[in-house]
Amino acid sequence: MIRLKNVVKTYADGEGRVYALDDVSLEVEKKDFTVILGPSGSGKSTLVNVMSGLDRCDMGRIFYDDADITKLKEKELVAFRRENVGFVFQAYYLLPDLNVENNIRMGANLVHNEDYDEIVEMLNIKDYLKRMPYQLSGGQQQRVSIARALAKKPKVLFCDEPTGALDETHGKQVLALLQKYQEANPVSIVMVTHNQGISAMANKVVRVNSGKIIEVSENDSVLSAAEVRWS
Ligand SMILES: Nc1ncnc2c1ncn2[C@@H]1O[C@H](COP(=O)(O)OP(=O)(O)OP(=O)(O)O)[C@@H](O)[C@H]1O
Ligand SMILES: [Mg+2]
Repeated sequence: MIRLKNVVKTYADGEGRVYALDDVSLEVEKKDFTVILGPSGSGKSTLVNVMSGLDRCDMGRIFYDDADITKLKEKELVAFRRENVGFVFQAYYLLPDLNVENNIRMGANLVHNEDYDEIVEMLNIKDYLKRMPYQLSGGQQQRVSIARALAKKPKVLFCDEPTGALDETHGKQVLALLQKYQEANPVSIVMVTHNQGISAMANKVVRVNSGKIIEVSENDSVLSAAEVRWS
């Protein structure tokens, strides 16, 4: 479904350039749960940002089925993101002046999706729809940000350290909800994490170092979120 071919992304670094992604090729299938692991600065965030069309690469091609998103003009890229991808970040990025319900509606309204009740139910946030983000715990805020991303019914959900700010209990709750949602819906999940244990939930594990993919492995059987060894 998603294919990256020889993708390069550099940033200016004084006189020279740093290769955040150095000739990366990768495939993600429909319904894959892909985990991206690697040390700090290895290019994980750059990889998901470029892969999702949030950022542009310098060279290479990125296909969603047969469409090459590197060829899209700015407006087309915005429309592509709106219709195809959702994001969850470590810092939840909820809009502080909107209550929970309106934060979720923002995601849903983008695609005129009125039926986000099921997502609200599943993520267990029904009781605080009227609260403001600052009145929620970290785990609750992250669940709202996931609800907002899923309310768009994305084909791919990109998560960059979604449990990075959460303790084990809340982190596993969030992961369990993502796992449950994926069982019931046709969505691919691409998740960046520092937490090695989470890779046991994924059917595909991508290891990144110095802007290169050094290993892609597949798990024949996966663990549930509750079974993950937290690290
Ligand atoms: N906007 C930017 N300007 C300049 N250099 C950048 C920029 N964003 C990332 N980099 C550099 O690109 C490389 C990859 O960064 P990236 O954020 O993708 O790493 P990461 O694997 O996500 O790290 P972390 O685990 O700390 O989040 C690093 O060397 C980083 O310093
Ligand atoms: Mg990062």
